[in-house]
Formats: sequence, C-alpha cells, structure tokens
Amino acid sequence: MKEIKEYSQLIKNSDDWQRLQLELKALKEENQALKLKLRDQQRQLTTMKKSEKLLNKTLSHTYALIFRFKLNDYNEPVFTFIGGDLLEHLPISTEFYTNKKLDEVFREKLVSKLKSYYLKALKGKAEQFEMVFNGSVLLTSFLPVFENDNLIEVVGSILDVTKIKEIKEYVRSSEEKFRKIFDAAEDAIVLLNGNQRYIDANEAACRLFGISKEKLLNMHLGDLTAEARKKSFIEEWPSFIKEGTFKGETEVVRSDGLIQQVEYNAKAHILPDVHLAIIRDIKERKEIEDRLRNTETLKAIGELAAGIGHEIRNPLTSLKGFIQLLHSEIHNSSNSDQYFEIILSELQRLEEIINEFVLLSKPKTTLFEMKNVRTVLNETMALLESQATLKNVEIAAKFQNDLPLVRCESNQLKQVFINFIKNGIEAMPNGGKLSVHAQQTSSEEICIQIQDNGIGMDTDSLNQLGKPFYTTKEKGTGLGLMVSFKIIRDHLGHVKVRSKQGKGTTFEVYLPINCE
Ligand SMILES: Nc1ncnc2c1ncn2[C@@H]1O[C@H](COP(=O)(O)OP(=O)(O)OP(=O)(O)O)[C@@H](O)[C@H]1O
Ligand SMILES: [Mg+2]
Repeated sequence: MKEIKEYSQLIKNSDDWQRLQLELKALKEENQALKLKLRDQQRQLTTMKKSEKLLNKTLSHTYALIFRFKLNDYNEPVFTFIGGDLLEHLPISTEFYTNKKLDEVFREKLVSKLKSYYLKALKGKAEQFEMVFNGSVLLTSFLPVFENDNLIEVVGSILDVTKIKEIKEYVRSSEEKFRKIFDAAEDAIVLLNGNQRYIDANEAACRLFGISKEKLLNMHLGDLTAEARKKSFIEEWPSFIKEGTFKGETEVVRSDGLIQQVEYNAKAHILPDVHLAIIRDIKERKEIEDRLRNTETLKAIGELAAGIGHEIRNPLTSLKGFIQLLHSEIHNSSNSDQYFEIILSELQRLEEIINEFVLLSKPKTTLFEMKNVRTVLNETMALLESQATLKNVEIAAKFQNDLPLVRCESNQLKQVFINFIKNGIEAMPNGGKLSVHAQQTSSEEICIQIQDNGIGMDTDSLNQLGKPFYTTKEKGTGLGLMVSFKIIRDHLGHVKVRSKQGKGTTFEVYLPINCE
C-alpha cells in the first residue's frame, strides 16, 4: 500500500513518470528471463524424469538386483536405491526403501546370508561370492565407493547365474563324456593343427607312440614318422588339407626307437584349424598275414620234404661212407686231403638241410612230457659253450628258481634254443655278451629270453624272419628260425623278436604252463 502511494505521488512529475515507465519495462524483461529459465528447468526436470523412468524400466527387465546403501548419521546402513527384476523373486520389501535399514528391506534368510558380507563392504572390502538361495545360484557383489579416501556408499548387485551354471555344467559333463570315449577308444586318435603339430591325443595314441601326452603335445608330425616315410608324408600334407581325407599305411617311430607299422585314416577340418587322424597298430595283423603266408610255404615244403627227404638221405649216407673209404685208400695225390675235406663238408651241409626238412615234415607223434626248461637250457648251453668261448662270447644265464614245468618235447626245444643261441653268437663276430633268462611272466606262461648285443636287424630283415631260406650268412641255410618257430607253435607257444641295428637282438620264447 505504501509503495502505491509513493508511485501516485511520483506520477505527478513527468520525469518521474518516465523513470517509472523504464523501471516497469526492466521489471517486465526480468520477469520474461525468469520465465524462460523456469521453462528450461522444467524441461530438464522432465528429461531427468524420463531417464529415471527408462532406467527403472531397464532395471525391471534386468534379471538382476542393483542397490546402493550408505551409513546414515547414526552409523546404520540404509538404502538409497534398489531396482531390478529379481526384486519379485527375493524376499525384499520394496515399499519406501529409501533411508530404510538393510535388515528391514532384506528379509528372512536373505539377511543372514548377506550380513557378514555387507558389513565387510561397509569397512571398505570389495566382496564377490556365490550363494544358493531357494535353489537358485546368485552371484553377489558388494563394491565400496570412495571419495577422497572416504567411503561414501556401497553399490551392490545380485545376479541369478543358475542357468549359466547349468549350461556350464552341461558343457563340462559332455566334454567329460567325450573325453572318456576319446580315451577309451582302442585306436589311437590324434588331433593336429595347421602347422602339423599334435594338439590332442588319446591314451591309445600315447601307448602307440610310447610317449606321455605332455611330451606328445606340440610335437611335429614328422617327429614321430619313420625317417623313410617322413619326406613323402609331409609333402602330402597340402593335398590332404585340400582334399579332406588321407588314408594308408606307414611306419611310426616310438620314443624308444622301435618302428611300428600302422594304418591311418585322417580327416581334415573337423573344426577350424583342427585335423583328426585315427591310427591303428597293424603289427599283429601283419604278423598273422605273414604267419599265414609262412604256413602255406611250410605246408608246401613239408609235402615236398616228406617225399624227397628219405630218398636223398639214404644215397647221401652211402655216398658219405664210400667217400670216407676212398679217402683212406688214396694217399698219393697232394691235393686229395683238401678235396676230400671240401667234399665231406659240403656233404655235411647237405645232410643238415635234409635233417631239418625231415624234422619239418615229421607228423606230430613226438613224445611230450612235463619238464623244467632249466634242464633243457643247461644242456643246450653245455653243447654250445666251446663255440661261444671260441668266438669270445660270454653266456650269462639267469633262471628263476621255482620255474613251473612245461609240457614239451625236450629234444625239439633244445633244437630251438640251439638255433637262437647260435644266431646270437653269430651276430657278435667280435665277441660280446649273450644272456639267457627264464622266468614265469604270468599265471599262464613262462618266457625264455635270449638276448645278444650284436649287429641287430632293420625292419625289413625283421619282417623276413622265419621265411624259408632267408639268410644273410654265407653258409647259412635260412631254415633255423623257420624250424624253431614251427616247434614253438607245436608247443602252443609264441615268439617275440625285438632288434635294433648296431645294438642287438632279443628273442622271447613264451611257453604255456598248466597245459596238459
Ligand atoms: N640274433 C640275431 N642277430 C642278428 N640277425 C639275426 C639273428 N638271428 C637271426 N638273424 C638273421 O636271420 C637270418 C635267418 O636266421 P636263421 O637262423 O633262420 O638262418 P641262418 O642263421 O642264416 O642259417 P642257419 O640257422 O642254418 O645257420 C640270419 O641269417 C640273420 O640275418
Ligand atoms: Mg641260424
């Protein structure tokens, strides 16, 4: 009222009137600016509300719970925010959560599960842990927030990871299942990458290569391929990658140096940069094939031998007798002694061959009896002792004390051991050591091992062993092993051979026990 009075006095004067007009104008403009500012603020408020609405909407569709809390003036943890879809699934009271204490909002068992962690978080320790609540696995985190080294609040989150856990468990168990199948496979299975390096292998592969998985992984394809096959094998790689398959037979080198014959079937790109190969040891199959072939040959020789053996032996014996007689009567030629020696030694050789032929063709009416091979071996070694000494070979025998008896024809077994020991001695032209061991190797068999450290054999020679007339010796018949293998087969046993060129050879004769 007072102001209006003053104004009415003022308008009496025109100058004052004008000033008043100006002030009013300024006031109007100020009012306008204020209005604009207000509108601006209102717009900002609407945008903020919109974003808050959007945030809440987003959170309500997030299968998680997000919350913030801090200490109030009374040092009690109180909520400042809570949101997220998990709200509906957990015992949490959401009404008027702001400034409410944690224990009032988190209800029931949830409080007891969380309390120790949020108390630690309020002391500044970040926490992340999994808890199982009503059958769900909840990944929970508490993250303290600091400002100038002072804790101002804690941001927490709870995420339902039940499904993720289930998927992880499914992946883990199916991986375990496939790993078990992979490892239980009889055939060797290996995986290689594009650089031809082994990236996985099953147990059969490790057995085949005689190497641990750790050592095998990252080895190069060429590292375990036999030298003779390496080059062509590596050269074939690009066409394998292009064509997708590759199969055939090859030789691999085990870590102990032994060459193993294998067949392989490879498939490229079973996964990106992963190629698979299934490898099968075909030593046994090859042995059976060889044995079959040998049996056929043996059969033919046997039939022949049966027919001609006796026919040749008889005239041979009389020839020998008459030549000996002639020798004692002729003394006038200076060369006759040497000629007779040659004739007799050649006749001796002929006789040996015929004897072995006859042995081969003999029907199985031989006398089998229960015997200790120790006795047979001792008798054999006594026979060969002088030959060994002459060749500077030391024979070292080691027999198990209580060797079980075997059912055998001792003369035939003796013939086998003579052949093996003789071969051993002959393999060491500069002398050496020949060990003869006999021991029980299982409840079913005993093993007689004859080992030399002589010249050894390569794979090709090993494959020829036992074939009729295969010999590398000037005066050999090449029948010794063939006869020996047959005798062992007649005894229901089997022979294993290991050899390394320049290192030596081991023959292992396995004979069954408790076999009437
Ligand atoms: N211990 C060994 N070390 C190296 N090579 C061996 C050994 N045993 C056998 N061989 C090889 O096997 C071949 C065949 O042996 P086998 O006993 O059948 O006949 P041989 O010894 O040549 O002749 P024979 O037995 O009539 O004297 C031998 O010539 C030799 O090359
Ligand atoms: Mg021989």
